Amino acid sequence: MDWKINNIEDYHAQYDEALNSPSEYWAKIADSFHWKKKWDSVMSGSISSSDVKWFDGAQLNITENCLDRHLKTQPEKEAVLFVPNDPSEKETRYTYKELHEEVCKTANMFKSLGVKKGDRVCLYMSMVPELLISVLACARIGAIHSVVFGGFSAQALAGRIEDASCNLIITNDGGLRGNKTIELKKITDEALEMPGCASIKNVIVHKRANNEITMKEGRDHWWHELISDVSSDCPAETMEAEDPLFVLYTSGSTGKPKGIQHTTAGYMVWAAYTFANVFQVEENDTYWCTADIGWITGHTYITYGPLLNGATTVMFEGVPTWPDASRFWQVVEKYKISHFYTAPTAIRALMGCGNEHVDNSDLSSLKVLGSVGEPINEEAWHWYNEHVGKKNCPIVDTWWQTETGGILISPLAGITELKPCHATLPLPGVHPVLMNEKGEEIKEVEAEGNLCIKNPWPGMVRTIYGDHERFKQTYLSAYDGKYFTGDGCKRDSEGFYRITGRVDDVINVSGHRIGTAEVEDAIDQHPDVIEAAVVGYPHDIKGQGIYAYIITSKSASNEIEKEILTEVIKCIGPIAKPDKIQIVKGLPKTRSGKIMRRILRKIAAHEFSNFGDTSTLLDPSVVDEIKNGVL
Ligand code: PRX
Repeated sequence: MDWKINNIEDYHAQYDEALNSPSEYWAKIADSFHWKKKWDSVMSGSISSSDVKWFDGAQLNITENCLDRHLKTQPEKEAVLFVPNDPSEKETRYTYKELHEEVCKTANMFKSLGVKKGDRVCLYMSMVPELLISVLACARIGAIHSVVFGGFSAQALAGRIEDASCNLIITNDGGLRGNKTIELKKITDEALEMPGCASIKNVIVHKRANNEITMKEGRDHWWHELISDVSSDCPAETMEAEDPLFVLYTSGSTGKPKGIQHTTAGYMVWAAYTFANVFQVEENDTYWCTADIGWITGHTYITYGPLLNGATTVMFEGVPTWPDASRFWQVVEKYKISHFYTAPTAIRALMGCGNEHVDNSDLSSLKVLGSVGEPINEEAWHWYNEHVGKKNCPIVDTWWQTETGGILISPLAGITELKPCHATLPLPGVHPVLMNEKGEEIKEVEAEGNLCIKNPWPGMVRTIYGDHERFKQTYLSAYDGKYFTGDGCKRDSEGFYRITGRVDDVINVSGHRIGTAEVEDAIDQHPDVIEAAVVGYPHDIKGQGIYAYIITSKSASNEIEKEILTEVIKCIGPIAKPDKIQIVKGLPKTRSGKIMRRILRKIAAHEFSNFGDTSTLLDPSVVDEIKNGVL
């Protein structure tokens, strides 16, 4: 790859080239992939007209680039290393040749159930190799995958199935996580009973946990039975550059989760390019991203990015604290991990478990550390650097989003100067700008404002599944001609970026995006709830916790709080459970009926002064009442 960035001068030169001649620059990058037909134009459309296209006119299949391409050069190289939940269970390894074969068989299995190009397939699975294989099998035949994280409830799953009208769902009998079994098939059954899921014609069940489940005649099929008589020959479907590759649901500040839609060619180029340059993985490295494939990090940096680069990617089924808090470090030691990419919430949790776990493990194989999903605080950054990296491994603090497809701002390992807690510099092709409260671009270098991206990049979200109007409204309307990220950001005098967190009504809990409106809707389902307002507050481990202020028709009790939590688990899943519930008599509302969340956020953070202008409050006395009862 002659485009791999090797040093900081190279970075600056490529940055300028990508800015000044984007079409030439990206054509050069794209040339290193396998295309069935090359593009007519590298980039077309614009953010203003919300019709961005990359490599329009080209034809390809992403799996030929992830798999077939490597069969010629490195068929026996390990592609996937699966590390099971139970440390006593042996790992599974797939070479590129074996992975190719499994993907082709699985694709044929999907085809045998009538799945074809453009169909939506839901994957509700635990972190087993068959999840990664199913993702690629969908892409092989041009079906659009919609992976739903295994921690979501039946209702949340049903909503996502309905929105994309999926016709096939793949699940496991159960998922193994620590000492728990997640009843994935049972939850799937519940979801499929709900109105709106009639589009599902078939369910494929991959056996993992051996827990008891029921199989519905005619609808449910065992993976191992179906796959036993399919061929391993599956030519890759021809896809147009802008054909959708996948949909992945994420939360926003209002309404239901949005189906973020990514397309084939642009996403492929972005995933491969960012993986190669940010992580700088070399020939014999073993790269481990601890995310779940149910999130974008697992799509781009467990599956597509590493495989497009012919790297060895680790899939870990377990949790960081089981059987004990040394698990991550044991995995690093045992499999000689060179690149380790995780979320600040895991670092903080493990930091709290004492240094003996990490200090007693041999971490000498590590070369690069990564952080993703939320701002990393100074203490966690330094602990990560000293105890895990032994001050010898660059930390890449990678900022990006489900919508961006891949990393936009991050140090390049070993190349960019590091500054704790800073995502540092944008990748070539990314032009970040900070906006002031008047909606103007801030020209000064040292500044703070709302982060926007001024130019389209290949991996950019193209639409919200089935709702292009909402896409325009959410991302492209706040600032004319710019993509609005929803994040606040600082830029220092050297032009280094530091993300400060969401500026909208999205809470980042343990690196997971939760919309306050979604949690409020769930709480409102309880018959005794009159109204609820949910905000985030600083949480030592999770980054942000969920604080719910609730007006009920009955007086406060443990009972009602428990029932409310159950309701949230039922509607969304345990990740959206409020950490604190305060039953209140009223909420601070303006005369026009709008809840002043600013005040609620301050109180939840125990900041009791500077509430700003409260003159528009309908009843200022509720603020004192809430303040006095704060948890
Ligand atoms: O607020 C930012 C935060 O996570 C949000 C995106 O969440 P999601 O779409 O779930 O994707 C997470 C994995 C890419 C962003 O709007 N975020 C992500 N990475 C960082 C971050 N905040 C600070 N620093 C980061 N490195």
